[in-house]
Amino acid sequence: MPGMGNSLRAAALLAFVVLSILVSLLISSVQQFGARISHFSNATVAGDEEEFASLRGALIYQLNERRKEIIPLLLPDHDDDENGLSGYSRHSLQHDQTLDSILDYNLWNEITHGSRKAHMDEMDCDSLVDMQAMEILGSGYTKLVVKVNLAGGQPVALKLVNEQGIDMGKCVEDFKDPRGCRELVSYKLKKEIVLLQRLRHPNVIKLKGHCAGDVGGRGGEGGRVAVILEQGNPLQMIQLLQSPWEDRFRVCLDLVRLLHFLSQSPLGSVTLLDFQPRQFVTVSGELKLTDLDDATAEETSCQMDADCTLQFPHRNFTLPCSTQGVCEGLNEKRNIYNAYRYFFTYLLPHQAPPGFTHLVDHIMNSTGELKADINQTLEAFEHILLLYKSGLHLDNLPPSIIRDYTVMRGMGTSGNTEYRCWPSYSQQGCVLSVHSGREAAYICNSHSQCNSFTLTGQKTWTGRLLASFRSSFSHLVPDGISEVYVKKTKAPETSTV
Ligand SMILES: Nc1ncnc2c1ncn2[C@@H]1O[C@H](COP(=O)(O)OP(=O)(O)O)[C@@H](O)[C@H]1O
Ligand SMILES: [Mg+2]
Repeated sequence: MPGMGNSLRAAALLAFVVLSILVSLLISSVQQFGARISHFSNATVAGDEEEFASLRGALIYQLNERRKEIIPLLLPDHDDDENGLSGYSRHSLQHDQTLDSILDYNLWNEITHGSRKAHMDEMDCDSLVDMQAMEILGSGYTKLVVKVNLAGGQPVALKLVNEQGIDMGKCVEDFKDPRGCRELVSYKLKKEIVLLQRLRHPNVIKLKGHCAGDVGGRGGEGGRVAVILEQGNPLQMIQLLQSPWEDRFRVCLDLVRLLHFLSQSPLGSVTLLDFQPRQFVTVSGELKLTDLDDATAEETSCQMDADCTLQFPHRNFTLPCSTQGVCEGLNEKRNIYNAYRYFFTYLLPHQAPPGFTHLVDHIMNSTGELKADINQTLEAFEHILLLYKSGLHLDNLPPSIIRDYTVMRGMGTSGNTEYRCWPSYSQQGCVLSVHSGREAAYICNSHSQCNSFTLTGQKTWTGRLLASFRSSFSHLVPDGISEVYVKKTKAPETSTV
């Protein structure tokens, strides 16, 4: 069977990629790893069979626990749930054998024992044949992400078990069984696959497919798992801090849209237990969650309000315990406060357009104090976006300021004398986004070096126009979509053709 041959080839390739990456990783970590292996050999050489058997038992217990964690996620969506199953806690469902029939075991089997084409566009082990591993995109405690070009040239990100990660290291230290540990850690990848399938959203990284190659061949034991994802750029907070407010606002808005979706997802209200900027990437400027293995829809049960505390390093909150005995909105509120402390505080207030400061202050206050739920927070963000796109926040700019400028349509400039401004869309000169010529004129008036500007016709993600400001230029050149504005009072000396 050629398909099977391809799968085996892909599995071998996968093993090869993992091996090459291993070799290229830090030597010190390798030495550390070596030390652990030798410890393992000593233990067996010493013939401590009993200890070995008890460690094996403990590892099998852990493997079962991980499996049980995934099973409730395989339940059909709430939408298809005519029997009111959503009223059950998924935690209790996992022990209820009578519900086995409704679990999506096909999905489970395919994740455990092979690959599948669940949706027409899904990739599998065959898609990885003849792929080219380019570089490492990132790594964490559990996973390693490699930039890969598939045979047809399509770029993807491949997520694998991080053999040098803390998770593997700790497991091998505890159980002295690298193979069993790889299997244990793979459960996090399997959980992520299920979550990525269930939680499809524009702000969740797109799952393109997966390959579960049973290299060892026996019942999924030691089976390596590779998740095929759309490729993103790891979120660089430092870089974001230096970018225009519009781009920083976008990241926050995307995050709020994501949290809004998670609060009423097909799995219930999902919270991210490991909520950090490094769990996100951007794809063409759009924020996407990529690390989902610590996401959970489990509710916290309670008897009184005091059982519902949310603890953060500098703040604690107590939420109400509902009459059904669950902490109301705990998952949602945890997400909101984390968004506030890791994203909004750094990205939102700084350099916000003057027309928005009171709206931004309000968001900072209501999220930082957990006064607003995610619906209200999303509304506040969408309101700002609407104002920003429509330019309504600029109503108090005097319409007359544009009359200080002569406009030449269908023209661009050459021989420019540029000046720098911050935060500019271009390193060379001063390029900012504006709603209209009027806002650009207002900005030009506020820069002492500015004597003219061009509306380039290029747009930002909100649809605002990119305007390029300068001190002077030597020539006007025909340019279909651009408009050049020159200050009347202080026209540059050589502004004629
Ligand atoms: N699709 C992707 N494109 C680019 N980089 C990614 C992608 N997914 C993850 N990464 C990078 O890889 C790192 C590790 O992935 P992650 O899923 O967070 O692993 P872990 O669970 O070990 O933290 C992330 O911090 C991120 O920088
Ligand atoms: Mg991570």
